[in-house]
Amino acid sequence: MEFSNFGERFAADIGIAELMDDLGRALAADPAPLMLGGGNPSHVPAVQALFRQRMENILGEQGAFERLIGNYDSPQGSAVFVEALAALFRSELGWDIGPEHITLTNGSQNSFFCLFNLFAGRFGARRRKQIMLPLAPEYIGYSELGLERDFFCAQRPSIERAAGGLFKYHVDFEQLRIKKTIGALCLSRPTNPTGNVVTDDEIEGLRELSRAHGIPLIIDNAYGTPFPNVIYEEVKPVWDEDIVVTMSLSKLGLPSLRTGIVVARPDIIRVLGRMTSVMSLAPGGMGPALALDMVKSGEITRISRELIRPFYKQRAERAVEQLREELEGIPFAIHKPEGALFLWLWFEGLPISSQELYQRLKRKGVLVVSGHHFFPGISGDWSHVHECIRVTYTQSEEDVRKGLSMIAEEVRGCYFWEG
Ligand SMILES: Cc1ncc(COP(=O)(O)O)c(C=O)c1O
Repeated sequence: MEFSNFGERFAADIGIAELMDDLGRALAADPAPLMLGGGNPSHVPAVQALFRQRMENILGEQGAFERLIGNYDSPQGSAVFVEALAALFRSELGWDIGPEHITLTNGSQNSFFCLFNLFAGRFGARRRKQIMLPLAPEYIGYSELGLERDFFCAQRPSIERAAGGLFKYHVDFEQLRIKKTIGALCLSRPTNPTGNVVTDDEIEGLRELSRAHGIPLIIDNAYGTPFPNVIYEEVKPVWDEDIVVTMSLSKLGLPSLRTGIVVARPDIIRVLGRMTSVMSLAPGGMGPALALDMVKSGEITRISRELIRPFYKQRAERAVEQLREELEGIPFAIHKPEGALFLWLWFEGLPISSQELYQRLKRKGVLVVSGHHFFPGISGDWSHVHECIRVTYTQSEEDVRKGLSMIAEEVRGCYFWEG
């Protein structure tokens, strides 16, 4: 059987597929490996209890469950939910928007497939455009979304060393060049995989550049404000008609309900709705239904600030503390954890590649993600690409503690035996 070019690109090796396969197999394996790899959010009990209660209310209300499961929404998604989101963003963030600026999708992964292929790829017979990632490392899930070759270009960051064995990536504006062939800029903030939060000044710089070039700046707010608010820095959430902001209910605790949110100018929103109608008729309605009350009342902001953020912040702090203790004397650094669900570990001069380290750890029973997957669009030789791994601290405290110990032991062995 022969696959088309379209089919072949999905049949080839794909980092995100490896990650999601690992995740699925790990959940089914016995004994299950320690899952410090995937991006599954924690099961935060107090938040899960709220969703359970909301589901019970739906079940208890005559006909509500039947309406919820029995009807398609429009391609824009649940109208009451979109209306409630617009009101929330106006009141909480001061954004001048209405429902015409918002569409729902089946998860932000799905939003990105549409957005990227809307702004990059072929334009007429001869022109091609790329998505530019102004700061790589960047989210692994972007890397295979383009339907054309050479879909991304990316800029290496500058690296600021900080006290306590920490470092922070910055956008390297001196090197950043926006060619005519760039269709949009995109970054996640907080960033998956590094936990970086690009500063307000950097966002202003990118905003000016994208405006000057007449291209959108896409800000992936999957972990940001006002929900799920897994962000430990005070930053200004920005939107205007030149910016596209994407959000998601996944990291609020509903990843299986596949609900993405896009905030953009109405003409972009209209096209995205059309794409949804072609690909899946309509976005699912369960996520919007479970989150509706908390968005309407504004409670979602309090839940995110008081329940979700402190939960992850404490996890991040414990993980950093443990790694510092167990890796003392090893040349390693941790990206300053400013948000998201991950620690990004940099083993400078690691005697083996991060992919080999990933394989060894997998054999031992702990899953991480090799850093090299997170540099789509970076060309040339850069050893840094093979010196980093991403670990998540969302699993049970015991699993995280054991997993980090196994990582520390393996890394120590690498430097000791092979360095
Ligand atoms: C930065 C970032 N963007 C987008 C997504 C996709 O999220 P979802 O499709 O679950 O909304 C993720 C998932 O981990 C992510 O980390």
